[in-house]
Amino acid sequence: MNHELSIIAAVAANGAIGLDNKLLYWLPDDMRRFRQLTTGNTIIMGRRTWQSLPKGALPNRRNIVLTRQQNFHAPGAEVFPSLETALASCSRDEKVFIIGGATLYAEAMPLATTLFLTRVEDTPAHADAFFPDVDEHGTWVTIHSELHPADERHSHPFRFVDMQRHPLHLFRYCPICGSKHFYINNDKSKHCHDCGFTYYLNPSAATVALIERQGAQGTEWLCVRRAKEPARGTLDLPGGFSDCYETSEDGVRREVLEETGLQVTDTQFLFSIPNLYKYSGFTVHTIDVVYRCQVANPDQARPADDAAEIIWMKPEDINPDDFGLDSIRKAVARLKEGIFDA
Ligand SMILES: NC(=O)c1ccc[n+]([C@@H]2O[C@H](COP(=O)([O-])OP(=O)(O)OC[C@H]3O[C@@H](n4cnc5c(N)ncnc54)[C@H](OP(=O)(O)O)[C@@H]3O)[C@@H](O)[C@H]2O)c1
Ligand SMILES: [Zn+2]
Repeated sequence: MNHELSIIAAVAANGAIGLDNKLLYWLPDDMRRFRQLTTGNTIIMGRRTWQSLPKGALPNRRNIVLTRQQNFHAPGAEVFPSLETALASCSRDEKVFIIGGATLYAEAMPLATTLFLTRVEDTPAHADAFFPDVDEHGTWVTIHSELHPADERHSHPFRFVDMQRHPLHLFRYCPICGSKHFYINNDKSKHCHDCGFTYYLNPSAATVALIERQGAQGTEWLCVRRAKEPARGTLDLPGGFSDCYETSEDGVRREVLEETGLQVTDTQFLFSIPNLYKYSGFTVHTIDVVYRCQVANPDQARPADDAAEIIWMKPEDINPDDFGLDSIRKAVARLKEGIFDA
């Protein structure tokens, strides 16, 4: 399954999104933005929204329709019996947008990572379809907001509001006093309205080791096959999270020893990359620090701990896509480019 799931919707001030299986507003600039965001990507919709499309499948997009009816025909679209099966058919690199309607928005909300909302500054007198509640106290933060005034083509002013899950969205209670009035303060902190405590989230430090040896065919890099989830079975570089009280250099030495049995004799800082690491449903923000590590006897490397296998590879044979963790994939791509060299 893919990591990112976006919801895109035009929502009135009271949460209304539709009436009689039709949209409530005709907003050309909003449609244009919808087209720009979704073109070339995948859109998933409920059966009723599909039937509301005036010209059928939306062009230049992978259209997916959900219905529990068997043998439902949707020309130009793929039909799936559940959101779960539809998402399972999407690759890791596919950008997936839930485009409605109300039923599907409600089901997808707990899975979504991003909301692209068009908030229309109007409360319609009649509506029968509504967007689910957006918890702006504890879960969702606005990362971009842009006002579009009313004009001759747009009957109402509206605002493009892009939201993402707050990095502390799973922390629902104040860690000092236990109060549930523990609310988003800014994009990196939550504040307790009872005891006044503010909790800041900073990235967790992690390390990545580049270990080289000179083989008969030239330089080789030490890669390991991951023994554990996430991304079990894919390639990886030695490394891991730093422990409290240890230096980053000690952290990389410890990880290399744990995973390969090798003693690091010297470390050279190369570069660092901010990353997200999904773990048990929690997104850990990390700062990955990449080191070139000298080792005494590279040929004695033996897999252990997080590593199932040691694989020496020539840099030119390495494909970053074979690395299962986003962060390591980025690090490997950058190592291959060699742009860290002064
Ligand atoms: N403002 C906006 O941005 C926006 C966007 C899209 C839609 N809308 C509006 O929303 C309204 C439609 O919403 P709606 O809730 O009535 O309909 P909907 O979500 O479009 O479609 C509901 C139908 O989709 C199928 N479905 C939904 N979730 C499913 C799942 N998890 N697994 C399998 N099938 C699933 C079921 O079809 P079967 O009954 O065939 O099994 C269900 O009856 C319309 O007014 C439309 O204009 C507004
Ligand atoms: Zn408190």
